[in-house]
Amino acid sequence: MDKRSFLKKASLAGLLPFSVPTFLNASSGHLMSPRTWPSTSAQIGASPRVDFLPWKGSDDSFWEEVRSHYKLVHDFINLESGYYNIIPEPTLDGLKQNMSHVNLRGSHYMRTELDQDRHKIAKSLANFMGCPQENLIITRNTTESLDLVIAGYPWQKGDHVIYAMQDYGAMKVMFEQVSKRHELTQEIISVPNHPSSDEEIVALYESKITSQTKMIMVCHMINITGQILPVRKICDMAHSYGVEVLVDGAHCIGHFEFNIQDLNCDYYGSSLHKWLAAPLGNGLLYIDSKRIAQLWPLLADYEKDPNNILRLNHLGTHPAYITLGISDAINYLKWIGSKRKEERLNTLRLYWMEALKDTPGVVINTPFEASRACGIGNVGLINMTPSQMAQRLLNEHGIFTVAIDYANVKGCRITPNVFTTYQELDHFIGAVRTLAQA
Ligand SMILES: Cc1ncc(COP(=O)(O)O)c(C=O)c1O
Repeated sequence: MDKRSFLKKASLAGLLPFSVPTFLNASSGHLMSPRTWPSTSAQIGASPRVDFLPWKGSDDSFWEEVRSHYKLVHDFINLESGYYNIIPEPTLDGLKQNMSHVNLRGSHYMRTELDQDRHKIAKSLANFMGCPQENLIITRNTTESLDLVIAGYPWQKGDHVIYAMQDYGAMKVMFEQVSKRHELTQEIISVPNHPSSDEEIVALYESKITSQTKMIMVCHMINITGQILPVRKICDMAHSYGVEVLVDGAHCIGHFEFNIQDLNCDYYGSSLHKWLAAPLGNGLLYIDSKRIAQLWPLLADYEKDPNNILRLNHLGTHPAYITLGISDAINYLKWIGSKRKEERLNTLRLYWMEALKDTPGVVINTPFEASRACGIGNVGLINMTPSQMAQRLLNEHGIFTVAIDYANVKGCRITPNVFTTYQELDHFIGAVRTLAQA
């Protein structure tokens, strides 16, 4: 639903006492009205200062409104939204209300409402991601989703797997563990920071396939640079050899628009506390129908139908209100608009990358094309290490980032968010230019 129809619907339903968005919590039916709106007008960014950018000045008031939904710290500028996304006040209010509701109803909630709520939320998540509910489960994070597949796959001695040194550490160590346990062989490739074409990347993975290869793990977005990989083409190529593809989409859901089934992958894991801005501790796992029956669950379940994905989703007692927050996060993103958010994040990234690209001593580690990256970028300096750069950005310029110094990537990961202003980015650009001369 776009912003206008959302607001219209809400006001018709009598839900809109103010001009700020008010949300109905899908799971509890509670009205979520933002209580305390931060006074941030002094920090809200106006139009970008770089004149050549076509998007200059467009949409400013909308993003000011979005920023007003966040409570932000004043002691540093947060350019590290890559670890996880802080949540806007409407989602936070919903979380508090859900926590109170679960606490009030206690075991009665757990015994009579929880399963239905999880079912409803999985359904809305599946609708949002364009896949059947029968192929999706809610997990706690990407680590759980992907490790469930890696640990639960029916490996046989001598099987071969391919992944990249730029992949996430937790999955790499899980592959190391199953390799020891099942005597697998692993091929670890290196993805170039600036590929010349999709075909270059597809060929890289293809060149390592052997008759023993069972699985390729690939990042949809590499977390240390923000590079988006051509997952559909990699999956099509891999399937032509009978190889399955496990996609690490930790950073992708809620970040840019796509439909999971369009990727033609076998497995897709993501963390919803990243760009969907759901409460911390939410993830999803998509599994193609053909692959469900072959996996062993991490925690055994009472469900015995091998083709029922819920067999893989046994949790034990858990903080149910965290899961309920997924509905509020989807509502909030729908209010912003997925495409609008994607364009904004790409615009912010290109704003600082364009401004810095010709600065002597600056190395940009992320492709420029909008199809190869979105909100995350990486920049290094030739006169200092990434950790020195991150420390100086924080201590001398009040900018929080994270240093990356492995897998051919030397620089700081820069991750603005929907609340980031051009003034903040101008401050960051000035800081990097100063440090480049140090
Ligand atoms: C590419 C990638 N995969 C997996 C993960 C693990 O995510 P989580 O800690 O939410 O399980 C991360 C976390 O940053 C990541 O960047």
